[in-house]
Amino acid sequence: IRRITVPQIRDRKGGEPIVSLTSYHAHTAAIVDKHADFILVGDSLGMVMHGMESTVGVPLDLMVMHGRAVVRGTKRALIVVDMPFGSYEESPNMAFRNAAMIMKETQCQAVKLEGGARMAETIKFLVERGIPVMAHIGLTPQSTNVMGGFKTQGRDEDTWNMHIADAKAVAEAGAFAVVVEGVVEPLADQITAAVDIPTIGIGASKNCDGQILVLEDMLGLNPWVPKFVKKYGNLGPAIEQAVAEYADEVKSRAFPGPENVYNNK
Ligand code: KIV
Ligand code: NA
Repeated sequence: IRRITVPQIRDRKGGEPIVSLTSYHAHTAAIVDKHADFILVGDSLGMVMHGMESTVGVPLDLMVMHGRAVVRGTKRALIVVDMPFGSYEESPNMAFRNAAMIMKETQCQAVKLEGGARMAETIKFLVERGIPVMAHIGLTPQSTNVMGGFKTQGRDEDTWNMHIADAKAVAEAGAFAVVVEGVVEPLADQITAAVDIPTIGIGASKNCDGQILVLEDMLGLNPWVPKFVKKYGNLGPAIEQAVAEYADEVKSRAFPGPENVYNNK
């Protein structure tokens, strides 16, 4: 089966909403693959999979390893891999070298990087050289140390022009879509109206051209999730119940049962 392509995602502007989720490992990715248009191997894996406090510490080789797992586990969705903090900001050359490495090593179809107008030159450099780029504006988690935390953007209307200019800059530079994260809803709507590439909302607006959530958040694996996450599942308690039952059965020797052991002839 041929995967969904970058032009197919781009052409969904103003059409049927684009469905996407993050995934970091083969088995969950295979499930998501049945329903998502694209899957993001997000650097949120640093927090979700590896217990880090932010995405700032995520190394490039970790993105490559999880990227490979997700590509192997899927066949239909477009796979986008996040460029981690420190792997692209310095120069277009550096960004190209690392993005090309990610694509060669993982066989993903596109990369995502954070930043608006300031990253436009880099986005153009990559796209002209064969690397599709998804941009990411609004709340950009890799800048958490500058922002002093994860702060909703655009509460002050004086900042709206800057965010809209960011969206226009990445679209102009050739990004095929842009994640709009953590902005007040009317600003997200203005951004969506201002660009001719799909906006993918997270903590943004129902009027974005698509939506994305972190899979583990929407599955209810984390005890706490921000307000923009809707919990479509409650896996945390389900897993705990299974683990507790297993512990009881090990202690009472109810597990393994006769059906779980091997016999000689
Ligand atoms: O890393 C991530 O999961 C992301 C999405 C939340 C957009 O960048
Ligand atoms: Na990310």
